[in-house]
Amino acid sequence: MIGKLNHVAIAVPDLRAAAALYANTLGATVSEPVDQPAHGVTVVFVDLPNTKIELLHPLGEGSPIAGFLERNPAGGIHHICYEVDDIVAARDHLKASGARVLGDGEPKIGAHDKPVLFLHPKDFCGTLIELEQA
Ligand code: CO
Repeated sequence: MIGKLNHVAIAVPDLRAAAALYANTLGATVSEPVDQPAHGVTVVFVDLPNTKIELLHPLGEGSPIAGFLERNPAGGIHHICYEVDDIVAARDHLKASGARVLGDGEPKIGAHDKPVLFLHPKDFCGTLIELEQA
């Protein structure tokens, strides 16, 4: 059911420092910071040949990653995103399998203007999973 790894999202306390680390120390191609007010984050995209890394930093009040950074002040992997062909079919299959879909279970338009859902980390090896309809 799941397809390509779309991205790995890493929450970081200092976006400029993290972008410089990826650009200079790791030699990757990084974007300028992009504010995504609807998602409460500022993102730097790191382009790799086979996937992307998204460096996330809280934007505004009540950012969904603020609590994560309080618990992980040095930063850390926040979620991984897998592509699916049909997000509603994927959701129905997962719910029938007993997995918990976060929120009201309806796909939302994600950071790439595509429908996304998040799955409860306790049901998936301690990893927050985002599904994105490719
Ligand atoms: Co994501």
